[in-house]
Amino acid sequence: MTDHENIVVSRDGRVATITLNRPKALNALNHALMTEFVAAAEELDADPEVGCIVVTGSQKAFAAGADIKEMLEQSYADVYVKDWFSAWDRFGALRTPTIAAVSGYALGGGCEVAMMCDIIVAAESAKFGQPEINLGVLPGMGGSQRLTRAVGKAKAMDLILTGRQIGAEEAERSGLVARVVPTEELLDQVGEIASGIAEKSLPAVYAAKEAVQVALESTLTEGIRFERRTFMAAFAFEDRTEGMQAFSEKRAPQFRHR
Ligand code: CAA
Repeated sequence: MTDHENIVVSRDGRVATITLNRPKALNALNHALMTEFVAAAEELDADPEVGCIVVTGSQKAFAAGADIKEMLEQSYADVYVKDWFSAWDRFGALRTPTIAAVSGYALGGGCEVAMMCDIIVAAESAKFGQPEINLGVLPGMGGSQRLTRAVGKAKAMDLILTGRQIGAEEAERSGLVARVVPTEELLDQVGEIASGIAEKSLPAVYAAKEAVQVALESTLTEGIRFERRTFMAAFAFEDRTEGMQAFSEKRAPQFRHR
């Protein structure tokens, strides 16, 4: 993989990790970082040997938001013409499962990138928030939409209108975070979750992820219809035969399309 200035990409078997790496700015998400990050994520997504992508930062900061100093220089015409932040949509649209391993600050765009991931695992040290209101703006990378879907109106309004930060425990209680783990165990525990997912049948994983995403964007009736059809379509996967046969024979499945 090519060298990067603002991220580090590593591989361990079928698990790839993208580490945000702008320590001097607490991993603030400037344009260069976004461009590198999204290109790397798309490259990993296109590789069938990658079964799960972990996104992480440093112990102090997952990411402290979009780069405020960079934004300060931009006019409305600048951000409109450049379609500022829109490249992040491509990350949100990946088919490979993504896990955010969050330690320290996940604020503004940092919280929003975490929410673009399929699963958020928080270290006990994690702090989430949408403090854009304190800068005279509002979330701009999907925060008002994804946070509201994740935690409901009451908590989303609280966080977005006050700009306050919440800790890992409150984030888990609110439904923002899937699991909270001791800070020093974050990467090990996320690695285990990721390699577990990466060993499953890839087409089944893609289909399952898509079905959950449909739940966020459709009515219940349409979503259930989509799920049933997709479930039936899964009967065409060789891995489905293998999975059910392995269960009957009391052995571990050998997924061909992993
Ligand atoms: N943008 C640019 N630089 C940032 C940054 C950001 N979002 N967050 C931190 N930095 C920089 C600081 O300016 C500082 O740089 P210098 O040493 O050159 O001054 C360095 O990172 C370290 O930060 P602090 O000294 O502030 O560290 P701290 O431990 O005292 O505080 C913090 C940590 C509470 C996270 C604080 O840095 C902070 O409040 N950061 C801004 C958080 C924020 O408002 N995020 C939202 C951004 S807007 C957004 O994200 C829009 C959107 O929806 C997409």
